[in-house]
Amino acid sequence: MALSLKSRGPSAAEQLRERFAAAWARSDQLFAIVGDAQTLAKPIVWRHPFIFYIGHLPAFSWNQVCGGILHWPSFNSYFDDLFCRGIDPDVDTGECHWHPEVPDQWPTLAETVYYRDRVRRALLDSTDALGYCPSTDLLAQGGRVFELILEHEYMHQETLMYMMQQMTSDAKLRPRNFPRYAFGRAAAKETVRIPAGKARLGTRFDEITFGWDNEFSEITVDVAGFKIDSLPVTNGEFFEFVTVGAYADPRYWRPEDWQWKELERKQHPTCWVKQTDCWFYRAMFDILPLEQVASWPVYVSLAEARAFAKWRGQRLPTEAEYQRAAYYGPSERESTYPWGDGEPSSRHGNFDFAAWSAHPVGSHPAGASRWGVQELIGNGWELTDTPFAPLPGFTPYMTTYPDYSKDFFDGKHFVVKGASWATDKQLLRPSFRNWYQAHYPYVFAKFRCVSD
Ligand SMILES: [Fe+2]
Repeated sequence: MALSLKSRGPSAAEQLRERFAAAWARSDQLFAIVGDAQTLAKPIVWRHPFIFYIGHLPAFSWNQVCGGILHWPSFNSYFDDLFCRGIDPDVDTGECHWHPEVPDQWPTLAETVYYRDRVRRALLDSTDALGYCPSTDLLAQGGRVFELILEHEYMHQETLMYMMQQMTSDAKLRPRNFPRYAFGRAAAKETVRIPAGKARLGTRFDEITFGWDNEFSEITVDVAGFKIDSLPVTNGEFFEFVTVGAYADPRYWRPEDWQWKELERKQHPTCWVKQTDCWFYRAMFDILPLEQVASWPVYVSLAEARAFAKWRGQRLPTEAEYQRAAYYGPSERESTYPWGDGEPSSRHGNFDFAAWSAHPVGSHPAGASRWGVQELIGNGWELTDTPFAPLPGFTPYMTTYPDYSKDFFDGKHFVVKGASWATDKQLLRPSFRNWYQAHYPYVFAKFRCVSD
């Protein structure tokens, strides 16, 4: 249940300021990886250069909190507008939702950082001011708008990470506290039978402190019994799919997926590198022998995952099957996390930047769901084959922020669940939904196979 910020007292505002400071420190650490020299780099053609994101995080926060709810006068309305919204085009057609026109020349890094720091100071002041603001805006109540801007920042941090993963190592600065990679064998995979039963999608508005528009409202659905792999598909397993020639065999691909694969001339997952007859893996700062990371989950697009599953004579899970495998168990009681109701920790999975790469699959048995399905949260998002669509009762976010999801209910985006190593733990709630196009191959997204 959301609390009134006023009733939380000054310590709540102080806690909020600490959370802002921690989120901003992580953003700054991530931007430091590309340094001043690469702020105009654009490692993914469908995304803006890094300078946009340096300005976008503060602009979004300003527009929601200080401009949108508190109606404070802007000190740089040009930047508020220029950086207000990014791009996420249709990767097949290049068409894109509305966004500010790209300038002939982006602002300089110094100008953008100056703007960012002024916004940050204003946001620190806003934590007290909002509690005394008479706004009737739903986001103004219970401090929801602060959760909105924090979660927005966390999600962009992950986007930045997968953009940076596309860059060559010599274009990046390795942080001094970079965690060590985890190598080792994959745990043994089992097939888990999930009996027919219920699964809840979404949640009630008054049930959580904050949620995005697409999480509301709830619906409980009947799910037929199914069998699901206890672990996701590894690089090693996918390597077999590639080397036996199945990746290049149109029989395993949907026609639209095959067309994309041929157009893009894809012969293997995006973070694999083939040099003569040797295979490597592009991790964040290192090119590693693929064999060394054979036990890590393979990160692929939905199109590639579908082809693999078909080759195996299986399919991908639906969103409802994911919910049932993750949040239920033999008692049929819904839990907060797959492992139960205990607070998430590094014991339960590879998330929240505990590592900056995948771990061997099966490294976190304490995070298994009560059916015994592992890694449904962490180590990579879980691809589903369910188109991203509104839940019953959906309304675009009600007040200052109406544009979050509705442009993506287009039949071309699919629901992705769980979390990767670059997902903040605040996002680990059952109703949280992520979404990507089937032909977008850059995400830290893994998959597992199911059958009826
Ligand atoms: Fe954004």
